[in-house]
Amino acid sequence: MEHPPSRSEYKKVWSALSATEDQAKLHVIGATEEAAFQATGEETLRFLQDSVGIRRDDVVLEIGCGVGRVGKVVAPLCRKWIGCDVASNMLALTANRLKGFSNVELVEISGYNLSGVADASVDVVYCTVVFMHLEAWDRYNYISEAFRVLRPAGRIYVDNINLCTDGGWQVFENHRSFSPTNRPPHMTQNSTPQEIETYLKRAGFSDVRIRTDDDWIRASGFKQEIIGNS
Ligand SMILES: C[S@@+](CC[C@H](N)C(=O)[O-])C[C@H]1O[C@@H](n2cnc3c(N)ncnc32)[C@H](O)[C@@H]1O
Repeated sequence: MEHPPSRSEYKKVWSALSATEDQAKLHVIGATEEAAFQATGEETLRFLQDSVGIRRDDVVLEIGCGVGRVGKVVAPLCRKWIGCDVASNMLALTANRLKGFSNVELVEISGYNLSGVADASVDVVYCTVVFMHLEAWDRYNYISEAFRVLRPAGRIYVDNINLCTDGGWQVFENHRSFSPTNRPPHMTQNSTPQEIETYLKRAGFSDVRIRTDDDWIRASGFKQEIIGNS
């Protein structure tokens, strides 16, 4: 009998979770209705605008873009939107959802890095509703890769559910009730604000800001320009 994939076999795990459009949408936000995608996409956009900002000239890259829930509201506001995902099924759904836009590029990634995206070629990297599904090392791998692909003065936004709030703790308890030998590979693992802050600072980001107004950690940072002596 074939073993179920482990958590870090992201391509296998997420290809299986996105075999149909409805299944993919349920794994993205737990709903399939367009109204829910539009409303939550706009809500995420507000968090991006309040932290890193999306400007007309920006090249913006999303890590784990899913079906293009956020891409659909960000792409009209920037020069280019690059959607990256580990699952080709997800990228096909994004392609369909954003088919009206000419400034969209889609990249299938390995699940561990942004290989294929050039150094210093992007203005904003964001990653939303993805870190809870990753191993901690891969959260850091992506933050470190974001630093590589961002231009000087580039901005990063990442989020996860906060372990340290009552609501976040409830999520932790709900998942603790799974039998240890039967944990789904994609199950949510929260972060602490300190974990995310540490990754951003260790990767080299400056002006790191962590918002914890609700049960989410929303973190942003800035890639400082190196002023040369030439
Ligand atoms: C819950 S969905 C969120 C999608 C999108 N960010 C949104 O908020 O609408 C998680 C997405 O992350 C992708 N994903 C999971 N593991 C990944 C990895 N290691 N690298 C890149 N994408 C990954 C999944 O395929 C899926 O599209």
